[in-house]
Amino acid sequence: MNNSELKKAVTLLKEGCLVAMPTETVYGLAADAKNPEAIKKIFRAKGRPADHPLIVHIADILQLHAWAIDISPQARQLAEAFWPGPLTLILKKNSQVSDLLTGRQDTIGIRIPRHPIAQALLQAFGGGVAAPSANRFGRISPTTAEAVREELGDKVDLILEGGQCEVGVESTIVDVSGEIPRVLRPGMITSRQIEEVLHQHLSLEKKNVPRVSGALESHYAPMTKTKLMSREEIELYLQKLNENELPLAVLATEPLLCQKKQVTIVVMKKNPFAYAHDLYQALRDLDKRNFQLIILQKVPDNADWDAVRDRLQRASS
Ligand code: TXA
Ligand code: MG
Repeated sequence: MNNSELKKAVTLLKEGCLVAMPTETVYGLAADAKNPEAIKKIFRAKGRPADHPLIVHIADILQLHAWAIDISPQARQLAEAFWPGPLTLILKKNSQVSDLLTGRQDTIGIRIPRHPIAQALLQAFGGGVAAPSANRFGRISPTTAEAVREELGDKVDLILEGGQCEVGVESTIVDVSGEIPRVLRPGMITSRQIEEVLHQHLSLEKKNVPRVSGALESHYAPMTKTKLMSREEIELYLQKLNENELPLAVLATEPLLCQKKQVTIVVMKKNPFAYAHDLYQALRDLDKRNFQLIILQKVPDNADWDAVRDRLQRASS
């Protein structure tokens, strides 16, 4: 992004327009968080229901008070440890914050992203920027500028090119508005890392979870039918396939033995960071190829894979 493009992006935000902004997690659909008309445009462009709150992105922790109150010591510790970075904190909202942003909840999600283009844009703009992932509601989040174009096309006034997102899945969301912090959406900052910083166990309570669109069962989903299976289930399934059945794909975590010509196997990388980095683009590519089914191989059951496991579950429900 050169200087004139940055200026253009800032001007558009100030005029209440939509700008697609690369972040280290996924691309966001950005608008001035203080402009109600601009916020409404985000919901319209995504086809997102009004009660699904947006995350506000800021450049600097000094801006936090404009949005949130009652910032607990734990919230501060997490902000210091992980910002700028792929962490969203849910805090009690400042009374001046528009209900349009928060879906009438008394809390607000805040994040300082670390992608250099997001940083430059937020600093030059100076205020908070509301930005959900830049996809249509319920679909796969975009991890390239090209994917934003596919998702939203001319519904966005400018798409900033920022290369492929480094993390590849959405930020970890931690609710620090209550007594005990709680993860609402797993991300590549793991529960273990958070507990290490806080010297405290996280709440596992599922009750009273606020409305989180990322918490809807079917989310981040391809159009093609998908199924989550273990290696054994996949091998059995493939063995039983008839010659004349339609093409299908397997997103695998290891090479699989299968010679059938209608089966396409994509082998993902072995570690959770590399897997997460490639996941949405791999799903997006497979989704375009008219398979009758995409089989997702289950990933390991340990905490390092929480974010990936969560996205695979949602993609297949
Ligand atoms: O990595 C990310 O977080 C990306 C990039 C662009 O920053 N953004 C993102 O936004 O994933 P979105 O809107 O697609 O997902 C944000 C999630 C939604 O599930 C929303 O419901 C939840 O955060 N959320 C926002 N504010 C909340 C609040 N006050 N309480 C609970 N959940 C909230
Ligand atoms: Mg989203």
